[in-house]
Amino acid sequence: MAAALYDPDDGYYSRSTRQVGRSGDFFTSVSVGPVFGTLLARRFLREWHESGQPARWRILECGAHDGTLANDVLTAIEKLDARAFSTLEYTISEPLPRLQSTQRETLRRFAGKVHFPNHPTELIDDPLPGIAFGNEVLDALPCHLIEWHDDRWFERQVSLGGSDRLVFNLVEIRNPDLKTALARLGGGFADGYRSEIRTGYREFLGPLAAALGSGLMIWLDYGFERQDYYHPGRHKGTLRTFSQHRAGDDPLARPGEVDLTAHVDFTAVAEAAQSLGWEPVALRSQGSWLTQNSRDWLMQMEGDPQPAVLRQFQTLTHPAHLGAAFQVLEIHRRNSTP
Ligand SMILES: C[S@@+](CC[C@H](N)C(=O)[O-])C[C@H]1O[C@@H](n2cnc3c(N)ncnc32)[C@H](O)[C@@H]1O
Repeated sequence: MAAALYDPDDGYYSRSTRQVGRSGDFFTSVSVGPVFGTLLARRFLREWHESGQPARWRILECGAHDGTLANDVLTAIEKLDARAFSTLEYTISEPLPRLQSTQRETLRRFAGKVHFPNHPTELIDDPLPGIAFGNEVLDALPCHLIEWHDDRWFERQVSLGGSDRLVFNLVEIRNPDLKTALARLGGGFADGYRSEIRTGYREFLGPLAAALGSGLMIWLDYGFERQDYYHPGRHKGTLRTFSQHRAGDDPLARPGEVDLTAHVDFTAVAEAAQSLGWEPVALRSQGSWLTQNSRDWLMQMEGDPQPAVLRQFQTLTHPAHLGAAFQVLEIHRRNSTP
């Protein structure tokens, strides 16, 4: 999955920047329009105020893709709060050079304000309080495929079969991190039950936590808490391919040409954060989270409704659109937190 998505030459995300949007393979909340970035910006500003308006603060975006969301967030902050904007350092950690140059191009207007480390570990020597966040990033992190037989888990690994085709093999599990993660799932699954599991959340969050020291993390994605993720009825797992807005279920069919994604076990993300000394504080549907964070914004529109803007808000929040499919996990670490 790591190679199929991120190989520097042939990975799906390395090859072009046209995955998201109508002419791409899938929509995200960012494709709906700038309202999503505006509402995130308002939440970020509230965090800046609640943490005592630090003289320098950082927003660290992961998976910024072509820079559209960063542009929406920065435009909103600049408009809403000149002091917060002047003290802000917006940082995009982007490992893929092609995406980084597209982001630089999209964010030309904010040159000097936006920093582009190749990896968040580069920021550890200069931690700044603030916010780390990502929209639909965790689902794009590689996962292990697992299958239950004879009262134990096996891993479905990829190898090269005849005629140069990729095939799955069921193998014994030796990886100690995977064994530890699987021990948390319990047992008693039906024979042939398939799912997936990520062992890399702590590794992913650790450098971000260190780059902030304290503040807020916000992860928006599709997923469940653990007991729902590994529900007996979900016996085929959630790994999917996406191409031209159609989902597929053969992850080996066109590696590098299609998106690969699996839902997020938010319990595992919360546990990883806790192990780093951060505190998971809320897991809500995107609809409920955005609505709660938009009260002032909606009130301001009373008497002067803007239909195009409200349409975006409805798409983001209505349960039949994006409101119920996506969850938002907030994780905090206050300065005083031990
Ligand atoms: C589905 S896209 C989301 C794009 C964008 N956030 C949006 O909502 O439209 C997933 C993005 O996560 C990025 N990504 C995956 N692993 C990452 C990592 N370890 N660090 C930073 N970005 C990563 C990919 O390169 C890709 O651009």
